[in-house]
Amino acid sequence: SKSEFIEQLLSKMTLEEKIGQLNLPTSGDITTGQASSSDVVKNIKEGKVGGLFNIKSIEKIREVQKIAVEQSRLKIPLLFGMDVIHGYETTFPIPLGLSSTWNLALIERSAQIAAKEASAEGINWTFSPMVDISRDPRWGRVSEGSGEDAYLGSEIAKAMVRGYQGKDLALNTTLLACVKHFALYGAPEGGRDYNTVDMSRIRMYNEYFPPYKAAIDAGVGSVMASFNEVDGVPATGNKWLMTDVLRKQWNFNGFVVTDYTAIQEMMRHGVGDFQTVSASALNAGIEMDMVSAGFLKTIKKSVEEGKVSMERVDQAVRLILSAKYDLGLFDDPYRYCDLKRNKTDIFTAPHRAEARKIAAESFVLLKNDNQLLPLQKSGTVAVIGPLGNNAVNMPGTWSVATKHEKAIPLADGMKAVLGKSVNVLYAKGSNLVADAAYEERATMFGKTLNRDNRSKEELLNEALQIASKADVIVAALGESAEMSGESSSRTELGIPSVQKELLDALLKTGKPVVLVLFTGRPLVLVEESQKVAAILNVWFPGTEAGLAITDVLFGDENPSGKLTATFPRSEGQIPIYYNYKNTGRPLTNTEGKFVKYLSNYIDERNEPLYPFGFGLSYTQFSYTNLQLSTDKMSANGKIIASIEVTNTGNFDGKEVVQLYIRDVVGSVTRPVKELKGFQKINLKKGEKQIVSFEIKEEDLKFYNSDLEFVAEPGWFEVFIGANSSTTEKVQFEFVP
Ligand code: IFM
Repeated sequence: SKSEFIEQLLSKMTLEEKIGQLNLPTSGDITTGQASSSDVVKNIKEGKVGGLFNIKSIEKIREVQKIAVEQSRLKIPLLFGMDVIHGYETTFPIPLGLSSTWNLALIERSAQIAAKEASAEGINWTFSPMVDISRDPRWGRVSEGSGEDAYLGSEIAKAMVRGYQGKDLALNTTLLACVKHFALYGAPEGGRDYNTVDMSRIRMYNEYFPPYKAAIDAGVGSVMASFNEVDGVPATGNKWLMTDVLRKQWNFNGFVVTDYTAIQEMMRHGVGDFQTVSASALNAGIEMDMVSAGFLKTIKKSVEEGKVSMERVDQAVRLILSAKYDLGLFDDPYRYCDLKRNKTDIFTAPHRAEARKIAAESFVLLKNDNQLLPLQKSGTVAVIGPLGNNAVNMPGTWSVATKHEKAIPLADGMKAVLGKSVNVLYAKGSNLVADAAYEERATMFGKTLNRDNRSKEELLNEALQIASKADVIVAALGESAEMSGESSSRTELGIPSVQKELLDALLKTGKPVVLVLFTGRPLVLVEESQKVAAILNVWFPGTEAGLAITDVLFGDENPSGKLTATFPRSEGQIPIYYNYKNTGRPLTNTEGKFVKYLSNYIDERNEPLYPFGFGLSYTQFSYTNLQLSTDKMSANGKIIASIEVTNTGNFDGKEVVQLYIRDVVGSVTRPVKELKGFQKINLKKGEKQIVSFEIKEEDLKFYNSDLEFVAEPGWFEVFIGANSSTTEKVQFEFVP
């Protein structure tokens, strides 16, 4: 049996070999931090390596695996990890974009395809899903998560784990998933990456923990610890978090890996020297040390000095061996190195066709005055902007396996899809940002720089000349791919000013302008929302970008994405999110009128520019007849909430129908509303559908001040609508 196999192997291992299993150096192919690993091959031969990560090449992986299983004493195969975050070579929209589909089946499918491709190139472990809730778009890594909501984030976390791991981890088309970054990484002070986090436990449990727990409930095989501190202790050495919460309360039975050099970083956090922090990480509940080599270099001494027990080392090794066993690596260490699949299963036409569909479904139509969109498939279109034909920026952040040059940019995609029917012109118009040094700072793998050395005026003049020939202008503007993502925090969240100037010049031509917005985070778009007739937010759409954007702009696909993170009116409103607390002095008017001594600003409204859940369609949907099956729910009872949704416009379309609940009176303060269900429906024009949701006692539960998960008696309000600002409501009483 598995446990016999593992115990037998464990009994043969020296302490050094055991510690070796807990060591995860980087291959050096793709570095995602400042340090890198040394003596990797030598260490593998000596049995001092448990896995390697971010190697891109099946040949190299085979070679390294061969060293492990032929030249190390116990022949234990290695894990091969990689940041397969939103696709492998076939690249899907950034996770924030994927979440905007609100389509769990598609999200699961994207993870399944990613697993199929990565596992055809030797990878057996992915550092995904990233499920960190964030309410702060200054933080660059909002691009990598599913937005601000715990319920939606949990559903997506489960879908991704299912997609990567499938039903059987031992299949050579699935990957071991790793939910990250546990915990609270999305809440750094000031939105500055890696910064201090400080949060009450009740908020952790209710608002930030659920997606991690959901991934664990879905059977995720590994967890990555976050860089930040939690309750004053770095997560990497936080026993409460890693043992009490993760193991005891949530019954997690996989292994925990640190983030890159996180054990070394504990010294800079100021919680001890190298030996101390390494021991406290292992004792806290970490099983694998990414890049720090703290386990490798100090744990033996700590065991000898009685600072770490042999039981704890054994327990950790068991978990690593168990993952390798489940992946089938002991049966066949080359299981994920199928040279035939490597040729047939990566960046395939069918995968790319699915990526194109998924990308189209992730776009969020923010504005569409006078039905400017969809565009006619005739005449001349000028695509203008630094993102107008920019392949390398299309896949977005954390696309480490993508061949960026193979991504399809917008103008090329338009020409390919539309053929001769539309005359497509292109001009760059401006650089992404005026300051070259800023642009350089905002790149991670050095792949997204695409600067033009012509002067600002030259670029602008060329653009205006091209624009003068067009019937309609598509302004392709926004962030570069690496202006969001890791280590890309920003304090000003506008479209860079040089591009805003370009947009103004284009608007001055008097021609219709559509803004196609590329971004990895919610931006502040107040001016654009006032000046531009149509705004289509496309995030970073992946390798099939240009095709998918064309499909939507010209009406072959009707946009159906909805925001999963609030778009603020100003940076000063941050943190901003829909499920806020009422406070004792709520502002009740919605006209944005300032009222002294209420909770509001003297210089800005409280509401965001675009709320959570918002997104338009080329058609319109009306919501009528909101009803409950009864106005009383008993213990373990259920209520059906329903509403009639009608497609009243001129296009077939998809709509995300959203259910929110408010617990009116609680033993602790409760949010003004919380998402508790959603359905993405497809309605032909003129068609009507009754959409119903089952509400159960479970949906009313929350963590109280004793951190017990309870549903309290009393009144609940139910809202169903097209986004989180919906006010139509009905009520029921919970009488347990
Ligand atoms: O998985 C990542 C993590 O999200 C950030 N630091 C590096 C890790 C491995 O590349």
